[in-house]
Amino acid sequence: MTRINNESIQFKFPEDFWWGSSASATQTEGAADLDGKGKNIWDHWFEIEANRFFDGVGPQDTSQFYYKYKEDIQLMKEIGHNSFRLSISWSRLFPEGKGEMNEKAVEFYNNVIDALIAAEIEPFVNLYHFDMPLALQETGGWNNRETVDAYEKYAETCFSLFGDRVKKWFTHNEPIVPVEGGYLYDFHYPNEVNFRKAVQVAYHTILSSAKAIKIYKSMKLDGKIGIILNLTPSYPRSQHPADLKASVLCDAFFNRSFLDPSVKGTFPTELVDILKEEGYLPVIEDGDLAIINENTVDLLGVNYYQPRRVKAKDNLPNPDSPFMPDRYFDNYIMPGRKMNVYRGWEIYEKGVYDILINLKENYGNIECFISENGMGVEGEERFRNEDGMIEDDYRIDFISEHLKWVHKALLEGSNVKGYHLWTFMDNWSWSNAYKNRYGFVSVNLDKDNERTVKKSGYWFKDVAANNGF
Ligand code: BG6
Repeated sequence: MTRINNESIQFKFPEDFWWGSSASATQTEGAADLDGKGKNIWDHWFEIEANRFFDGVGPQDTSQFYYKYKEDIQLMKEIGHNSFRLSISWSRLFPEGKGEMNEKAVEFYNNVIDALIAAEIEPFVNLYHFDMPLALQETGGWNNRETVDAYEKYAETCFSLFGDRVKKWFTHNEPIVPVEGGYLYDFHYPNEVNFRKAVQVAYHTILSSAKAIKIYKSMKLDGKIGIILNLTPSYPRSQHPADLKASVLCDAFFNRSFLDPSVKGTFPTELVDILKEEGYLPVIEDGDLAIINENTVDLLGVNYYQPRRVKAKDNLPNPDSPFMPDRYFDNYIMPGRKMNVYRGWEIYEKGVYDILINLKENYGNIECFISENGMGVEGEERFRNEDGMIEDDYRIDFISEHLKWVHKALLEGSNVKGYHLWTFMDNWSWSNAYKNRYGFVSVNLDKDNERTVKKSGYWFKDVAANNGF
């Protein structure tokens, strides 16, 4: 690869910009039942409903980071990473979610963290990425307040085990996704459709985050703690008041529900009013709201893939149908929108800029970074060239078009500190398994998970080396 001539760099980022990628435990580790790991909801769901997973591939068949982490970290270094986000598997550390700790897990995460630091890659560690220990799910998961207590203990344990070396912590990744998937739209275990539980689960998750932040601060460790949210700007179909109202409510349900308590320590009034009026306020104990109010994040991870486009409802909701946020808006299919046809997601690069400017203007310009952004593509093998490299120019284009908007936000004063691609290597994804490949590095499932750097990986190496492109 040719090094970019410094003078030709049009989009220059600060010298200390965080360049890297993100991943999660269940999606990469493998060794799902090895070395004392307990089951989580994904292991369990696969056991009882393998047909819900693409090609019948389950979480034990991930890219085997558990065995190959040394090789992977060397590859990260090779393609210019100065930071990498991983998550700790709660059920690996505490097989039952609480109680006895698994020393093998401590050894594994110590090894990974040390190897990252030795390679001069800063570990960003997330505590929860959709992977509830099964034992806790069996007593209600996030719907049960005792899970918040177990999570506090788990978080405290992680801070004391690894907090001497890990300086960037995250309490949750995309906490709204388990709410949507598990309690509204049937794409995560336990596959319920129950708005009341959805609200309680969301509330307990927010409380758990604030409690973990409180513990972290009390430990006076040298580092920062944040949360990672998937923010989806809600664009109205038109400036008609009914469409505008639809977009405000959609934003309150799907963005501000977690963004406001995490950054401001308060809940959006529009949402609280609806929950009150409809009788869906969660059970809140004395003192909770003060904890949420006083323990906001230092740092915000922004996952951005696609926007939401909404319009006022065409028809009044059927009063007999289960209560859903969607009774306040309809999705709007914008003519001519650009799509990632494989994943069925819209590509709208400017969305990332709109998010960053919103954070600047309405959220105190909180320190933030792009913690996920990426393009899942099916059948990438067809782009492998004679030298064995996948020529994923579409991914280079996707990343650079987003980075241009990040750069514009930076010039306008956004406090954005980095960009992490989802993901480092092709990995297993929730029910889509290996359908869509996202990585800088390809993984050959038929050849002992052999890794090969894609063209985008080499391109990124130059971007990181030059702090721009
Ligand atoms: C994010 C998650 O929502 O999107 C990842 O944090 C996930 O875990 C990624 O893999 C891409 O989504 P998907 O469903 O295509 O894997």
